[in-house]
Formats: sequence, C-alpha cells, structure tokens
Amino acid sequence: MNFQQIFGAAPATEASAPGRVNLLGEHTDYNDGFVLPTAIPQRTTVHLGFSRDGQHHFYSAELDQKVSVSEHDATPQGFGSYIFGCIQLLHQEGYTIPPVNLYVTSAVPIGSGLSSSAALEVATLRGLRKLLQLDIDDVRIAQLGQQAEIQYAGVNSGIMDQMASSLADTEHLLFLDTRTLERRVIPLPADTEIVILDSGVPRTLAGSGYNQRRTECEAAARLLGVQALRDVTDPQAVEGLPEPLRQRARHVVREDNRVLEVLQGVSAAYFGELMNASHASLRDDYEVSVPALDALVALLQSTSGVFGARLTGAGFGGACVALVTAGQGRAIAQEVLERYNNTGYSGRILVPAVT
Ligand code: GLA
Repeated sequence: MNFQQIFGAAPATEASAPGRVNLLGEHTDYNDGFVLPTAIPQRTTVHLGFSRDGQHHFYSAELDQKVSVSEHDATPQGFGSYIFGCIQLLHQEGYTIPPVNLYVTSAVPIGSGLSSSAALEVATLRGLRKLLQLDIDDVRIAQLGQQAEIQYAGVNSGIMDQMASSLADTEHLLFLDTRTLERRVIPLPADTEIVILDSGVPRTLAGSGYNQRRTECEAAARLLGVQALRDVTDPQAVEGLPEPLRQRARHVVREDNRVLEVLQGVSAAYFGELMNASHASLRDDYEVSVPALDALVALLQSTSGVFGARLTGAGFGGACVALVTAGQGRAIAQEVLERYNNTGYSGRILVPAVT
C-alpha cells in the first residue's frame, strides 16, 4: 500500500535519513565524550501531506500499522511515539504544525543497533521542515530528535545517533565531541571498507540495562568530582571507585582516549586494534555484550582481511561492525556468516547491503 492508497491523495513532499553505525566511542556520548559514527546505506523515508480531519495519521509500511492521534492525546505506543514526539517538540519550539498524514517506509533494520529510531526522527523532522518551510538547521534537528527519544519514547539516550543520521554521510567518519558538538569529517583508513553483521539476537534498548549504565556513569562522575566522565583523561584516576562503577568508568575513559587516538591519524591495522580493544572493554568492563556478539566478533577477528571488529550500538544483542580490506567485504561477510550460522545462530549481512 502506498501513500495514495492509504490516505486517498498524493503526498505533498518527502524526506529521508540514514541509519548509522558507530566505529568507535561506545557509551561515551551520555558522558559528554567522543564518538566516531558513519551513515549506513539503508535509509528511512517519509512521505507527507496535510490531513483534512483534524487528526494526525501515521502509517508504517513495514509494520502495516496506522496510528491516528490529535495534538492533546496521550503519546501513542510504538513507531508513532517518535513521530508524535517530533511534532510535539516543534510545537514547544513555537512552530504551528497542522494535522499531517505521514507515511513511513524504512530499510534500516529495527532492533539491530543501527538507529532505526534516529533515522525515523530525523526523516520526520526533515519532512516537516520541508512541508512547512521551518527555519531549523541540521544540528537542531538532531537535538529535537534526541529529545523525542528521551521524552516520548522513554530512552535516556545521548546525541550520537541523531547527529550521525542528520550530519554524516556513508563515505566518511563523523568525529563528534558530544559536549561541544564540535565535529570533524575524517576519511576511513586507506583501502578499507565496513562490514556489518546482525547477530540475530534482538535487543530492546528501553528494556535493557542502558538507563542503568547511564546512572552508574553519573554516580562515578559525582564520586570523582567531575561534571562528566569525559573530564577524566587518566585511566588510573578511576581505580579507587567501588565496583561496578570502577569498571564502567574504566571503559568510558579508555574509550574516549581510543577515539582521540584516531584523530592523530592511524593505520588500518591500528584502527582495527582499537576496535578489538573496544569490544573487550564493552564485554568485560561495561558488560553490555552477550555470547552471540562475542562469538560473531571472535569469528570476524580471526578472519583474514579483517583489521578489527566489535559490537556496535548499545549492545545486549544487535549488530557487529568490522573494518576490512577494501573489496573483500562481501566475501568476508559471507564466510563469517556461514560459520556463525553453523553454530546455531540466525545472523544476516547488513552491510555491504544486498542490492
Ligand atoms: C544507543 C544510544 C546512543 C549511544 C549508544 C551507545 O545507540 O541511542 O546515544 O549511547 O547507544 O554508544
């Protein structure tokens, strides 16, 4: 069913935004730290038009679900919460948003740690900017998207995903200082490409330990007398903290340092080592990995042509990312996936995208 079939008229406009994959800097953004994501080829697209019956109507093609809601209604559940959140936040910014029909279609996998929700928020805000000629820039779009996530979807997330979806492209890494929003576009190491494999183990961000990790980091920062863990640069400084705060802070401080090392310019081999170290730290100190992710990462790391691999996103399931020799991505992905699935899992290749 297309827009016309659902809403009985052609759309007035459309917009889209990509999912993202994070190469380095995991669980650092809500600690005011540093991240290094890039956009993935898969995108979320929204088609929009004006609604004539006083209500907003949202339709998801993938879910085949329709949500109808008025301005003063409670926040709907599911995909509608993100769209409703974006509309409500624009209202709060002082913009008048008339009732809209909004049709969503997405190639960004849901629940794999590739930010399908950020892609939906950024695509929705871009679509509304276009439809209503709103004067908001790409950074503001990312900030509003993050607020939709926090206030309307109930996930206390950082700013990385929305900044990546709003500002990154698929050809570069986006270095971002999440405190100042200072950013730099840097190339991938020479002669490399990215592989992303889904572990087949889904994760539900809100139901996971995500908010708990965030609370632990805030407690660690308080005990260390700093505004955020980003302000700690010497990994030794966290060693006196009680567990599990010591482990959590150790991960964050070292992870920030790993991202900063990349800025100095590193070889593909060293970049890969930093990714491997990041995975070990997420597994052992931050404790957000699961056996399936560890198995998939180990297979990737032991495959010829792979410089490094790690879980990506919040963890608890979802996808792994690897940096590999350019031109070998598809063959490596197929080989590793076959070995992984032979051990009883149901993984799949996400990047290189199947065309
Ligand atoms: C999720 C959040 C991000 C970030 C990552 C972990 O994707 O939405 O803000 O915290 O987890 O790095």
